[in-house]
Amino acid sequence: MKIYKLALIGFGNVGQGLARILSEKYDFLKSHHEVDIRIVAVCDAIKGSVANAEGLDPAELLDQLGRDGDLRNMHPYHNDWNATQTIERSGASIMLELTPTHLATGEPALTHVKQALRRGMHVSMPNKGPLVTDYPALRTLAKENGAVLGVEGTVMSGTPALCLARESLMAAGISQVQGILNGTTNYMLDAMEHGCDFETALAQAQSNGYAEADPSGDVDGHDAAAKVVILGNLLMDLPLSLQDVACEGISGLTQEDIQSARDNNQHWKLLATIKRNSAGYHASVKPERISADHPLASVRGATNAITYQTEILGEVTLIGPGAGRMETGFALVEDILAIHSQCNHD
Ligand code: HSE
Repeated sequence: MKIYKLALIGFGNVGQGLARILSEKYDFLKSHHEVDIRIVAVCDAIKGSVANAEGLDPAELLDQLGRDGDLRNMHPYHNDWNATQTIERSGASIMLELTPTHLATGEPALTHVKQALRRGMHVSMPNKGPLVTDYPALRTLAKENGAVLGVEGTVMSGTPALCLARESLMAAGISQVQGILNGTTNYMLDAMEHGCDFETALAQAQSNGYAEADPSGDVDGHDAAAKVVILGNLLMDLPLSLQDVACEGISGLTQEDIQSARDNNQHWKLLATIKRNSAGYHASVKPERISADHPLASVRGATNAITYQTEILGEVTLIGPGAGRMETGFALVEDILAIHSQCNHD
């Protein structure tokens, strides 16, 4: 039995989703995967910090948060550690970076991830910022320090889009990736087709835990563009940055555009695409009007889909959740199991 001690930097939707999963699946993970996964520290700039080297009860963390809205009354575990101190002092073997995403600078997540990797801690993060801003440096740091950088949750939450491609499809030669990669906008477009206005649809996506802390990144297409950058870097060996992705969001779409498509048996979808071509590659995010019999037309709500065009297999499509508390929380469990498998490989 391997014990993995987790330090959670940030305790918003995703961290709480993970705590719920661990409170329900702790015994199953022990018996089926031989891993004993314990949260030993939580540090949240607003909700406060707690730590216990032997492990905190995830259900108690959630109860406390539900009662008071913060963790400050969790005696004797409450402390005043900031993120840096938590990474240094908690004794965790895996740091989970769960602070809000900042696509322009990657901060504060980038600093936390570098600090953890330099200490030889494994990292799991659904946070796209550090990958978009400094992936080559993080890959090198992880390698130099014998640490694993888990990033499954950065694309399609817990739906294993990266794992499928990295472990099974790379050798088939990936020449194009296209998909619906943002749950918030797909949910909004669906709701607007059913008569909801833009603001109400966005508010619903936020309350369901799909949207980023700053939802403009979702509606302007930048969240999907960040996923294009990640796919290009990790799967196609293309040194893309956000500036290389032609990006248009859904805020220019009117209720009339959406109803007009519907009247013609069509749907608007925010499509993200990256393809190799004679000039190198073309990467884009833009709303497209597709007919009802298009394979992606049936992808509704916060569900996402990705189609890998490969040289050997042709098209391989994966459909599944693209956002959400439990859905993204589960991506962290996938990362932890991948860390377990990589570190215990003969
Ligand atoms: N805000 C993102 C989305 C979360 O709606 O898809 C998952 O990356």
